[in-house]
Amino acid sequence: MHLTREEERMLDGEYGEAVRKAMELIVSIGEALGAERLVPITSAHVSGISVSNIGAEGVELIEWFARHGGRARVRATVNPMGFDLDGVIPRDPREWSLQERLLRALSAMGFHLTLTCAPYEHGNRPGLGEHIAWAESSAVIYANSVLGARSNREGGIVALAAAITGRIYEWGMHLDEERNPRVRVTLRGWRPRDEAEAGLLGALLGLRVREVPLLEARLPGLEEARSLLAAAAAWGSHALIHLEGHTPERRACVKCEKVEVDRAELTAFHEEHFDDIEGSDAVFIGCPHVTIDVMRLVEAYAEKCGGFRIPVLVAAPGVCKLRPSAQNLVILRGTCPVVARLESLGFDKIATNSLKAAFYLPRRHGIRVAVADAKTLLRYACNPRSRA
Ligand code: F3S
Repeated sequence: MHLTREEERMLDGEYGEAVRKAMELIVSIGEALGAERLVPITSAHVSGISVSNIGAEGVELIEWFARHGGRARVRATVNPMGFDLDGVIPRDPREWSLQERLLRALSAMGFHLTLTCAPYEHGNRPGLGEHIAWAESSAVIYANSVLGARSNREGGIVALAAAITGRIYEWGMHLDEERNPRVRVTLRGWRPRDEAEAGLLGALLGLRVREVPLLEARLPGLEEARSLLAAAAAWGSHALIHLEGHTPERRACVKCEKVEVDRAELTAFHEEHFDDIEGSDAVFIGCPHVTIDVMRLVEAYAEKCGGFRIPVLVAAPGVCKLRPSAQNLVILRGTCPVVARLESLGFDKIATNSLKAAFYLPRRHGIRVAVADAKTLLRYACNPRSRA
């Protein structure tokens, strides 16, 4: 692999031990992938910062980087962790103290403790054509498809090493030709009406399409785009979907394979995989993390309903200052349904508008899932006397 003079000096240890080790990691993976060179990045986003995932060894590794002079050279943010900041979900004291050590080490290295999978809403919003190194599949696919930035689905430790060196290997989504659509997806006489239907379509694309798709249908808005993208990344391995009206790169679909999805297929998929909403003992919203618009919707329903009859769990960024303002409204700041010990809250069936949450809740926590859009969920959770 060709390295610039500065990159060679990083690799030789002239910038300290942390930079040397981080550079070694980036170069060795880049070489294994056949990358010809590294590219400078403008932004990093690190996932895998939960003690439940990385254990004490992972914490020690990140502390090692901090002790040996590791510093983020670019804008750098972190994903949700396995605990919510307010202790709503019970904490094991030993694990929590390890988690605090991990957060201190990241903060000492200059990572912003945003604790969110929507860093683009919280100060880390790269622009068209910028090379970045993000981990967290829903954020990566959003960055590629909506912001026009360029990132592969990196692992957490690679994103950390990229932040410390300011470099990533030029491979995959960083290369122009890899970003061309290869599959044209059309919808026969329909389009998703809300974020739940968009998520169902995303899940189908994740399962049915392997290469970069171009969707020939306009989604109602950005919330639907977010939902579709996160679902496609969770149910498949997509890092980029060209979306009409959202993707800033204009690329023609030359010699594209054609895929058609009709509404009956969507309905069949919904019925085959998910329960009916009736009998759900909680509602979950915020995967990816809730936006201000959706939070306003939740609060409007909470007020209209005079609180909720069952818990309405909302996953929100760690940096948000939201506090529950109504009966049974539960704000989970800085965590997510995949890494948090949600099963400890004792729910048997959760209704959600997120197809990413619907993918993980049964697999990680053995919780049954129903899927509907946010308004339907909030109406379902509304107190019976005031059902809105
Ligand atoms: Fe975010 Fe966790 Fe969902 S990281 S996208 S809330 S699974």
